[in-house]
Amino acid sequence: MIFLNYSFSEKKIKDIILNSSQVISDVVDFLYENFKHYSWIGIYIVKGNYLVLGPWRGKQATEHKKIPIGKGICGSAATSGKTEIISDVNYDKRYLACFVTTKSEIVVPIKKDGEILGEIDIDSDYKNSFSKEDKLFLEKIADMLSKHI
Ligand code: SME
Repeated sequence: MIFLNYSFSEKKIKDIILNSSQVISDVVDFLYENFKHYSWIGIYIVKGNYLVLGPWRGKQATEHKKIPIGKGICGSAATSGKTEIISDVNYDKRYLACFVTTKSEIVVPIKKDGEILGEIDIDSDYKNSFSKEDKLFLEKIADMLSKHI
């Protein structure tokens, strides 16, 4: 039998934990099923210089499964570490279009000890969907999720 070294194994186990995201997908399900204006919800995870799509819920899959950090609304939030609220996606040049139905978007970074681990991305089929209340709520959820990434 070949034994792997500890640091390689540690990385492998980290990957397994990162990818077996039951907690995260349960939260995504809950948000999708309980908030009508959350039309599409995805969790992106930071992997190197990219945001990689994890669990998601919505009518359609997105083509943006891997977004370079710095690109789009998602990439901007991953750079600044600040929540982005776009009340009308047609007027934001950074916007990477996924669905023709999307009118507004919120992206909330998931941080632990100042490090950006990922983000919650929500598209809405309604204009101006995201309030201060959504922001505060989702920032709390992001904080909870940070312990499971
Ligand atoms: N609109 C995002 C891309 C992800 S899709 O909304 C699922 C952006 O501009 O970064």
